[in-house]
Amino acid sequence: MTNLAVVNTKGGVGKTTIGSMILPLLFAEERRKGKSIRVYEIDDNNKSIFAENSVIDFQTIKVKEAEDILDMVQMDIDMAENVINIIDCGGGNDTVAVLNYIKEIKLQGLAYVIPTNDDIEQLNNIKQTINLIRSIDKNAKIVLVLNRVAVSENQKITDDILKRQFIGLYGDDSLGIDRGLDEFKKELAGIAAIPNTPIFGILKNLKKTTAADRYLEEYRTVDNITEVRKGWISDGKEEYLKRMKEYRISKKVVDLYDNLEDFRNLLKGLTNETK
Ligand SMILES: Nc1ncnc2c1ncn2[C@@H]1O[C@H](COP(=O)(O)OP(=O)(O)OP(=O)(O)O)[C@@H](O)[C@H]1O
Ligand SMILES: [Mg+2]
Repeated sequence: MTNLAVVNTKGGVGKTTIGSMILPLLFAEERRKGKSIRVYEIDDNNKSIFAENSVIDFQTIKVKEAEDILDMVQMDIDMAENVINIIDCGGGNDTVAVLNYIKEIKLQGLAYVIPTNDDIEQLNNIKQTINLIRSIDKNAKIVLVLNRVAVSENQKITDDILKRQFIGLYGDDSLGIDRGLDEFKKELAGIAAIPNTPIFGILKNLKKTTAADRYLEEYRTVDNITEVRKGWISDGKEEYLKRMKEYRISKKVVDLYDNLEDFRNLLKGLTNETK
């Protein structure tokens, strides 16, 4: 059983990208074994563009309708339903409103994912969000996700890269900046990192699909491209070139899946403990 809420009082930090693209991708193996993945985007400003996909049961709802959804998640938790529920909260007031409702109904058993970008300003949002979570659940597992890490394609994210980019968290002696992370590190079950990559925008806006869909449809092709490519030749040059372009997009998704192994293991650890 896995129940996650993606929260941050700051808008535009990647909550929906992580809730609808990354987390379902990281659970692709579970999905392949038949587990359902449900994503609820609770947001007064946005509307779902993922309604038409096969891998994730995706809904966008207004904050005022969130109560029913959260009651259902509570029911799944109480009944130990074998599903993956991902609650993606909108920024600012939406995250605060959802967390307040979670507090009101004493919803326990959620793990929390807080995405952040590298602005020093966002330290305050992280602290505020952690405090809100702690007022609900003293023991909830919280994972901080450092989003939009500046790496070139297929470059591995190292501690050094993170330290240089997220100076508000890791500090910078030469600039006299303190390590903000020390103030709340003990509250975290772990820290994960996501590269800055155009793949999410490509999948969402151009292909109208999610990373999990693409991964599950295409990982076999990517693994066997040398063989598969030979089969494409008989379809003519135009079709061959078109398929190669699609293959390159799929390859990026598979590489991303492989590169996010640490995050995958972190999630496995969380969910094993909350089973
Ligand atoms: N790792 C990433 N690489 C590249 N672009 C990203 C990444 N994460 C997020 N983005 C982009 O940043 C923008 C904001 O992301 P997103 O919508 O996920 O944020 P949000 O926290 O859900 O925002 P809101 O608070 O409005 O709900 C989007 O255009 C998204 O494509
Ligand atoms: Mg969002």
